[in-house]
Order: sequence, then structure tokens, then C-alpha cells
Amino acid sequence: MTTFTHSSKTGVVGAGLIGRAWAMVFARAGLQVKIFDADAKALSACMGHIETLVKDMHAADLVQESPADIIRRITPVSSLAEVCTDVDLIQENIRETVEAKIDIFSQMDALTHKDTILASSTSWLPTSLFTKDLAGRERCLVGHPTNPPYLIPLVEVSPAPWTSEKTTQAAMAFYKLVKQEPVLVRKEIHGFLLNRVQGAVLNEMLNLYEQGFASSEDLDKVMKFGLGLRWSFMGPFETIDLNAPDGVVDYANRYGQTYAEVSKTQADNTWSPQVIAEIERERRQVLEHNQLDARSHWRDRRLMALRRHQKDQPA
Ligand SMILES: NC(=O)c1ccc[n+]([C@@H]2O[C@H](COP(=O)([O-])OP(=O)(O)OC[C@H]3O[C@@H](n4cnc5c(N)ncnc54)[C@H](O)[C@@H]3O)[C@@H](O)[C@H]2O)c1
Repeated sequence: MTTFTHSSKTGVVGAGLIGRAWAMVFARAGLQVKIFDADAKALSACMGHIETLVKDMHAADLVQESPADIIRRITPVSSLAEVCTDVDLIQENIRETVEAKIDIFSQMDALTHKDTILASSTSWLPTSLFTKDLAGRERCLVGHPTNPPYLIPLVEVSPAPWTSEKTTQAAMAFYKLVKQEPVLVRKEIHGFLLNRVQGAVLNEMLNLYEQGFASSEDLDKVMKFGLGLRWSFMGPFETIDLNAPDGVVDYANRYGQTYAEVSKTQADNTWSPQVIAEIERERRQVLEHNQLDARSHWRDRRLMALRRHQKDQPA
């Protein structure tokens, strides 16, 4: 199995939001990237998006190399066969259905060298759902990024039971090489780790909102001015380790029983269309629909500032 270095060659399949972001991440780390999309328009548009992105990152002092040098490493190609030829790892980023993933993985398995790692960016689907019948299934896994991966480094590496240990270790090393932070999902689970945690928080927010405890704006403030400040640089386990004088056990002795009682009142949420429409109405009062793009741009700038801050943080 491949040992990844800065001379490794990569392929990106699907040049939408996530595919083009991955291409930028791989090229930023010095690797050669071929990128393919079944939609010729999406393929030709992706280089413009990447150029804007790299220039923004350069202006924010998050890449030091010249944008032109980074962009030069990315080559759009016009067939799946081309992107699959002479590459050490393929990152797949097409639409999120089991059928589409089964189809593309079966084609990639047939078109690539037997040592090429095949990684999917799928947000929810365990590897075993779309690789079961492949001859090369031991070299397939999920490498789920967080959007946008050039600013948020977490990658969830989730192998199937038949993925070889060598493949998993090589993929972990690969994502580290491209300056991401891989975490290993030890057993397959729908939605991996991040989306499950995000789902738990959203369900509770929806319940609190639906039951009339607070407005959507105030619930967002709970994260923005409260939990999110600590959680932006350390996790909830580290947080509780420091929130009682003697660490985790001390914290659990003081508050664990209360959390256990409260958890009995934390119901599932059905994401009712009426409640979602009500939140949409409240959000549109704070942010008009035609301001969504500008606000997304603002969000990316704030993320860039946060990344710069994190880069200065001692280990
Ligand atoms: N958007 C997110 O926030 C996010 C975050 C993490 C992971 N993901 C995952 O990444 C994947 C891609 O999501 P996205 O948001 O980039 O979608 P997108 O719609 O922006 O891009 C998908 C691209 O795939 C192309 N495509 C479709 N079928 C193809 C095929 N057979 N061969 C080649 N190209 C094909 C489409 O033309 C399109 O350009 C999904 O699996 C998604 O779950 C998305």
C-alpha cells in the first residue's frame, strides 16, 4: 500500500462545493491533483472558484505560497478514466445517494490501480453500504470532511469491516500530510461522529424552541456567546475536565446525576415543517433572503480569522 509523500498524486471526482475544496487542500499541501466532473459546466466553473478561494486564503495569510503555484498543480480532466489513471488516492464527492455511490465506486474500482485508495466524502453513508461487492473493497473507506475543509480541518476516517488496516493507516497519514486532522471512527455508524453530535444539539435546540423556552436568536446565542467559545478550541470532555477542581470524576460527582435526570426529558425531534417554517420566519427577520450569500462570505472570513488565532495557539 502507498506511503504518501508530497510527490503523491491525487484524483478528485465531483467538482462541486466539496470536490473543488478538496482539490485546493491537496494542491495547497504540494500534491498534484486531477479533478473530474460528469457535468462539463461544473468542471469548467470549478477552476474559477478555486482561484478566488486560493487568493482569499492568501490575502488572509493562510497560505504563504503564491496562488498561481498552488493552482498550477490542479488539472481538470474530461473523463473518469483519466482521473483514475496514475493516482495514489481518489477522493469522491458526487451526490449523496447509495445508488450513485455504488455506481461510481464500482467504476473507480475497475479503472484504478489495485493500490490506489478510494475515499468517499459522504456525509452519512457507511462504507459497507456501497463497497460490499467490489473486488478491491479492502482499499475503500470514508474520509468525511467538514465544510469548508480548507478552513475546518476535521476528517472522519471510517473504514468498513473489510477495509484493510494498511488502507486505514495510510489514509490517516494522508490526511495528516495535507494538514487536516483525521479522527478514526472505530465502528461503522450512520452519520459518523460530527453529524451525530450536531444532530443531537439541533434536536435539543428544536425541542426547546418548539416548547416555547426561547427564541431561535437566543438559542443561537447559547452557542455563540456561551458553549461555542470554549468548544472552538477544546472539546466537551476537556471542558468538563476543567470545570471541576479535580477533573472529570469530580465533575460527574457534582453534576452527573442532574445530567442523567435531564436527559430523561430530552425527547427526539421530528423536524416538523411548521416549526422549521417558524424558525425560517424568525431568521428572515434577522437576515433577509438576499443577504444569505453576503453573510456566508462573512462566515468564511470569520472562520479564517479563527483559524489564524488557532495557528498561534500553543499545542
Ligand atoms: N456540502 C457539504 O457541506 C458537505 C460536507 C461534507 C461532505 N459532503 C459530501 O460531499 C459530497 C458532495 O457534496 P457537494 O456538496 O460537493 O455536492 P455538489 O452538488 O456541490 O457537487 C456534486 C458534484 O458531483 C457531480 N457529479 C454527479 N454525479 C457524478 C458522476 N457520476 N461523476 C462525476 N461527477 C458527478 C455533479 O455534477 C456536481 O458537480 C456528498 O457526498 C456530500 O454528502 C458535503
